[in-house]
Amino acid sequence: MADTVHTGSFGAADSPEYSESFLRWPQRVEQAAAAIAGHLERTPTLHNDALDERFDRSLWFKAEGLQRTGAYKVRGMIAQVAALTDDQRAAGLITVSSGNAALGAAYAARLYGCQLTVVMPAGANPHKMTAVQEMGATIVFDGVMTGTEAFARAAQIQSDGGLHFLHPYDNPDMIAGNSTATLELLDDAPEPDFLITPTAGGGLLSGAVVARSIRGLSAHLVGVQPTGADALVRSLRSHTRVSIDHPETVADGLTAPGPGVLNFALISGAGVVAVAVTEEQILQAMDLIVRHLRVVVEPSAAAGLACLLADEPVVPAGATVGIILSGSNVSWPLLAATLAK
Ligand SMILES: Cc1ncc(COP(=O)(O)O)c(C=O)c1O
Repeated sequence: MADTVHTGSFGAADSPEYSESFLRWPQRVEQAAAAIAGHLERTPTLHNDALDERFDRSLWFKAEGLQRTGAYKVRGMIAQVAALTDDQRAAGLITVSSGNAALGAAYAARLYGCQLTVVMPAGANPHKMTAVQEMGATIVFDGVMTGTEAFARAAQIQSDGGLHFLHPYDNPDMIAGNSTATLELLDDAPEPDFLITPTAGGGLLSGAVVARSIRGLSAHLVGVQPTGADALVRSLRSHTRVSIDHPETVADGLTAPGPGVLNFALISGAGVVAVAVTEEQILQAMDLIVRHLRVVVEPSAAAGLACLLADEPVVPAGATVGIILSGSNVSWPLLAATLAK
């Protein structure tokens, strides 16, 4: 059974990060969109009658698995690197990632001719690791076991080597870049009653908060995460940022320790609903997406649809729903095993 928390406003919306940054969002998003233009795909929004009938809702899926590097993260990474000075780029870049942020950073670094180092925790998806190395980045493992340890190790390497840190979610340019995925979805779909994204550090979801605000819409926002990595659900419930040291889930893209500072300020101030889904729901959603939409998705990307498989989904029947299918970097054996069931 999904665990749901409805957030009220409890001060975050009045915090300086929240209000001050909101004032600058339209300009920041415009800069991000300009940096991305010509370098990334305009991914399609998919619609399928069989899925609409199955779920009794009008569903519009933004296929970010078809994005370069196979995930939306590259949008925010290009926006971040574009916003740096020449000196910062020349000093070299470093990031932390279990996979998709690293792929996006590697793509952005190559675009701007920068050196990139990535600290990856043990257990990161081996297929993503290989792809990051193939794109020319240096991966550091150093016995780092958890996301929290990976951030600490990256901070150390950054200060020792004078590198610039690219945050995988807690950065305004990252959020602005990510928001372009939701903006494109809003261009393609009828005005949605609900917008659903998977969430971990909150970069994609806070980008949706920004996009909704820019468009002046009142769509409800839903962030979905696995029960074994439900830091946002817990954070909203306790009105403070909670992190999870040892997340356990098949959705390896959703294993960031918890929501970032700016992300949490945006999300908690925007009345977002956070929902946790089971591993079974994630894999069932993955199967439905591949069979009906005929696009590949990784487990993290299936989390959005998975929340509609709950006994009592937060989205009512009859609603028009935009869902971001955030990535397609799945291990083929896992995909094959899921489809074979
Ligand atoms: C496929 C996919 N979906 C969603 C997310 C969640 O990202 P965020 O940290 O922006 O919440 C990630 C993070 O890497 C991801 O790889």
